[in-house]
Amino acid sequence: MLLLVVPLITSFFGLSSSQQPCWSRDYGNGGTVCVCNSTYCDTIPRPQVVPSPHFLVYTSNQAGLRFQKTNGTFDPSSTETNFASYDSSSESDDSTYDNSTNNVYIDSNTTYQTMVGWGGAFTDATGINVNTLPETLQETLLQSLFGKNGLEYSVGRVPIGGTDFSTRAYSYDDGTEDPQLHNFNLTYEDHNYKIPLILRALKLTKGKLKLFCSAWTAPKWMKTNNEYSGFGFIRRSMYQPWADYHVRFLDAYQEYNISFWGMTTGNEPSNSLNPYDKLEVVGWPSWLLRIWITDNLGPTVRNSSHSKINIMMLDDQRIFLPWYVRKVLQSERTRQYVNGIAVHWYLDEYIPASALTRTKKLFPEMFLLATEASNMPEGGENAVLLGSWLRGELYSTDIIEDVHNWVTGWVDWNMALNATGGPNYINNFVDSSIIVNATAAEFYKQPMHYHIGHFSKFVPPGSVRVHSEGTRIKNVRYVAFQRPDSGTVVVFLNRNKESVPVNLGDGSRGTASLELSGNSITTVLYW
Ligand SMILES: *[C@@H]1O[C@H](CO)[C@@H](O)[C@H](O)[C@H]1NC(C)=O
Ligand SMILES: *[C@@H]1O[C@H](CO)[C@@H](O)[C@H](O)[C@H]1NC(C)=O
Ligand SMILES: *[C@@H]1O[C@H](CO)[C@@H](O)[C@H](O)[C@H]1NC(C)=O
Ligand SMILES: *[C@@H]1O[C@H](CO)[C@@H](O)[C@H](O)[C@H]1NC(C)=O
Ligand SMILES: *[C@@H]1O[C@H](CO)[C@@H](O)[C@H](O)[C@H]1NC(C)=O
Ligand SMILES: *[C@@H]1O[C@H](CO)[C@@H](O)[C@H](O)[C@H]1NC(C)=O
Ligand SMILES: *[C@@H]1O[C@H](CO)[C@@H](O)[C@H](O)[C@H]1NC(C)=O
Ligand SMILES: *[C@@H]1O[C@H](CO)[C@@H](O)[C@H](O)[C@H]1NC(C)=O
Ligand SMILES: *[C@@H]1O[C@H](CO)[C@@H](O)[C@H](O)[C@H]1NC(C)=O
Repeated sequence: MLLLVVPLITSFFGLSSSQQPCWSRDYGNGGTVCVCNSTYCDTIPRPQVVPSPHFLVYTSNQAGLRFQKTNGTFDPSSTETNFASYDSSSESDDSTYDNSTNNVYIDSNTTYQTMVGWGGAFTDATGINVNTLPETLQETLLQSLFGKNGLEYSVGRVPIGGTDFSTRAYSYDDGTEDPQLHNFNLTYEDHNYKIPLILRALKLTKGKLKLFCSAWTAPKWMKTNNEYSGFGFIRRSMYQPWADYHVRFLDAYQEYNISFWGMTTGNEPSNSLNPYDKLEVVGWPSWLLRIWITDNLGPTVRNSSHSKINIMMLDDQRIFLPWYVRKVLQSERTRQYVNGIAVHWYLDEYIPASALTRTKKLFPEMFLLATEASNMPEGGENAVLLGSWLRGELYSTDIIEDVHNWVTGWVDWNMALNATGGPNYINNFVDSSIIVNATAAEFYKQPMHYHIGHFSKFVPPGSVRVHSEGTRIKNVRYVAFQRPDSGTVVVFLNRNKESVPVNLGDGSRGTASLELSGNSITTVLYW
């Protein structure tokens, strides 16, 4: 109750901006959700510039704070003294620490990658769930993700045809063999679940949303096993039709004025290695993907009206870094067509993030983008855990690791699912940042939503990652950026139950004294 009352009182007295607080609900899963209905939903307005030496602090935590806004001032007198004990080998990890001298230093003069953005995927399941809500609540949900009082997502992934988060398996040219694609056509799903939502998201972002598309499967007749899933590849005679199919998709969406910023060479080709797997897939051994990109996809796309699109390869797990990527990109002729490398988060706990940096060093001209993540049930858990703070922490831990290793953005999987984690026609249910309850005409913003939001809201596309270093602080991670408006953003994740004091130093400004509350994510912002 207290959590609700404090911001309400401040807004009554006109002390805060129009930020609407979280209406929180505890389902007993180690944290809370924020409930939105047709008349109420929490908001997060754009931060207003505060002049130096002031700084802003936004905190969300397991106890229930969501984007709680406070401020402070840098103490200029302590510039020199506090930062004698850097350990430059650490980007904060899990060794022991002396709690009394946690110093973190930001060096905005040392810059790394430029950020592409943050977002989620327009799956069929997302559209199905959004459509179950009353019209005004649909708009509220989209505003929560894309609006100026929401997370301001800047990237959207669009499946080319179906995924497992559909109610059936399909492609855009089902039926008999049709290499000229005479029967190519968008489906009911595009017209009802994807296109309307994308158009609304484009409107909310004033057309700035960067969309990229990925195919799960080809029509069966293009594939060696004549199936959507399992151990199957594109037949050699179908390499060109499969490239043409992608351009036909781009053309079809262009008719609705939906243009794509990027495309991948196909979702998770490695799923083809399991013949019993039910996920739709096109398998690509590295040497065949190289041939298809070089001889078919690359020339076809570059010679189409979509020639400027960013082509990203891999779209699969870290385990393929860098060896598979190196094999595909070994030829200059292939590299000329490829702009980026797309990575997924599954198995990240087993593969060190340094694999990303090794890949970036091999191909410095390519950008890295994290294109899919979701929490899957482990050991008999429910797919959906309403309010799980831990699952939010897993998201931000991965984001911080990725960004420290040259990743330019992070894209969530389904933007909305139901309370079972579906629909998914092969029962591959997972959690989602937004859970829709059609019966109650409510949706629930999970902690994952806020963990992404602590980046997406404050680190707009075009921001640059900057150097940060300091004391190793157990279970605390952080990363810093400089925004296009020259503001500095530092995001801290504290996975300790206890609060952690931190002195944040930045050059001539001096020191900001922070207290990171227990199990919290905190964004600090100053200009
Ligand atoms: C929506 O939520 C608000 C805030 O809890 C509540 O006051 C209102 O009655 C709810 N509206 C509906 C239609 O349930
Ligand atoms: C800091 O917060 C206080 C209390 O909410 C407010 O009165 C003040 O205007 C804020 N200062 C800045 C620079 O935002
Ligand atoms: C494509 O689908 C639309 C309706 O969704 C239909 O009107 C049209 O005839 C179809 N075209 C082909 C070539 O099947
Ligand atoms: C697409 O945009 C053009 C030019 O702005 C406009 O004339 C056309 O009606 C739009 N098409 C659709 C389907 O919205
Ligand atoms: C590009 O398309 C034109 C006409 O459509 C064709 O003449 C040309 O050979 C194509 N170039 C490549 C590189 O495919
Ligand atoms: C979610 O969708 C699946 C598939 O349609 C369905 O079986 C399940 O009952 C739904 N769950 C809820 C809570 O509506
Ligand atoms: C969804 O709403 C129905 C009707 O209010 C309620 O019985 C059910 O418990 C709700 N589900 C969740 C997960 O809150
Ligand atoms: C850090 O020190 C403060 C003050 O001594 C204490 O309250 C807090 O629990 C400590 N945090 C950790 C993570 O040990
Ligand atoms: C960063 O660069 C500017 C301009 O070159 C310089 O004035 C400033 O002292 C530098 N800051 C740090 C922390 O090195």
